[in-house]
Amino acid sequence: MLSEEKNRRLTQVGPGTEMGDYLRRYWHPIAGESEFDDKTIRPIRILGEDLVLFKDLSGNYGLVDRQCPHRNADMSYGYVEQTGIRCSYHGWQFGADGQCLHQPYEQACDPTARMCKSTRIKAYRVQVKAGMLWAYMGPEPVPELPDWELFNFPNGFAQAVFAELPCNWFQCQENSIDPVHFEWTHNNWTIRQGGDTGPYVPSHLKLAFDEFEYGFTYRRLREGEDENNVMWTTGRVTLWPNGFYLGHHFEWRVPIDDHNTLSVLWVLSRVPTEQEPYRQEKIPSWYGPIRDPQTGRWITSHVANQDFVVWVGQGTITDRTREKLGQSDKGVVMMRRRFFEELDAMRENPQHVPKGTILDPELNKNVFLPSACRDEMLNGLPREALAEHPLLGPYLKDFFGQAGQPDDVRAAYEEAVGQKMQGAKLFVVHGSRK
Ligand code: FES
Ligand SMILES: [Fe+2]
Repeated sequence: MLSEEKNRRLTQVGPGTEMGDYLRRYWHPIAGESEFDDKTIRPIRILGEDLVLFKDLSGNYGLVDRQCPHRNADMSYGYVEQTGIRCSYHGWQFGADGQCLHQPYEQACDPTARMCKSTRIKAYRVQVKAGMLWAYMGPEPVPELPDWELFNFPNGFAQAVFAELPCNWFQCQENSIDPVHFEWTHNNWTIRQGGDTGPYVPSHLKLAFDEFEYGFTYRRLREGEDENNVMWTTGRVTLWPNGFYLGHHFEWRVPIDDHNTLSVLWVLSRVPTEQEPYRQEKIPSWYGPIRDPQTGRWITSHVANQDFVVWVGQGTITDRTREKLGQSDKGVVMMRRRFFEELDAMRENPQHVPKGTILDPELNKNVFLPSACRDEMLNGLPREALAEHPLLGPYLKDFFGQAGQPDDVRAAYEEAVGQKMQGAKLFVVHGSRK
C-alpha cells in the first residue's frame, strides 16, 4: 500500500515532475522505423509532451514541438525539406536540432537573418536502433542508447510491435517483476479460454528477486521443478527503468502521459538452423488493436493482450492506497523502493547518475543481459528441436506475442523460418517454463 502522495510520485510523468524528469534521463523507443516508409511526419505524445516526429528528405529523423514557435500552428501538418521540417503556415523551417533555418518573409525584410538565428523550436534527439526510433528527452550528459546483445544476434527475424494502452505506465512496469501472474494470466487463463477446465499448470512454490546493474532478476520455482531449472538458475530481467527482458524479446512501457502508455514489444524469432544463414533486410513494425470490435471487450487471445487486460483493469492510475500486498509482491515492493531511492538521490544531487545508464561508449558494445534461452538464441536449434523448445517452440506455430500481426509481416516471418504458420488461436501452455 502506498500513500496518495507516493503514488503520484511514481506515476506522474509530465515535464517538471520528479518521475518525468527521471525517465527523461533514459532513451525510450517511441516508434517503428518502418512507419516512415510511407510517411514523413507524424504527431506523437511522449511523457506528456505533444511532439512531431519526422524524417526529412535527407533521411534524418527529428522530434520537435508540435506547435510552431511563430504563432503556434500544428507542425504535424508541416512538410519536410532536405534539412528539417517547415511549418505550413508561414514557412518557417527548423532543423532536427531545433535551430530555425529559414523565415522566408522575415529574411526578405532583414537579410542578416538575426531573428532566424535566435529562433528555436523545442527539439529532442532521435536515434535509430533495431528497427525502432528512440528518443532522449533529458539534459546532458546524454547516455548511450543501450546496445543490448539481443539486438545483434544473427539468424533471427525481428519485429517491433506497438499498442497504446489507456492506463499509467507504472502498473505496466510492475508486471515486469511479477512472476506469479504467468501462471494465472497466461497459462491457466489460456487453458480456460481454450475450453478446458484443467488441469492447471504447476504452481509457483518459491520466488527470488535480486538487483543488478541494469535492473532486477527474478527467479521462480514451480511444483515438480528442481533448483537446476533455468527459471531458477537464471530467471528473467526486470529492465530498469521501464523494460522487461525475456531472452527472446524485450518489452517496454513508455509513458505517453499520466493516463496512457505505449507498449513496445521487440521480438526476435530464431530461425531453425536449416534456414541459416538468414539475414533480415528490414525490421517490420506494426500496431495491434487492443479491443475486439465485435464485442467491445479487450482482446484476450495473445500473451501481451492478456497483460493489457489486467493492467487497464487496475484503473487508469491504479489506486495504490487500496491494495493488499503479499509475498508474491516482494519484487514490486523492491522496485518501488528503488525508484524512491533514485528520486531522492536526484532531488539531493542533480549530478546523480541514474541507475543503469551507460555513459562510456566503450562499455556500450553488445551489452550482456541474463537470459534463460541465450544458447538456443545464439547458436540455434534444428527445426524439430526448436519446435519442442518450451519458450521458443510456440512461435513456430504462430505469433502469440500480440493480436493483429499484419499479413505481410506473417509472410516475411514464414519465409524466414521456412514453414507456414498453423493459424493457432491460443498459446496453450502445457510445459512449465513460460
Ligand atoms: S505559425 Fe508557423 S510559420 Fe507562422
Ligand atoms: Fe505477462
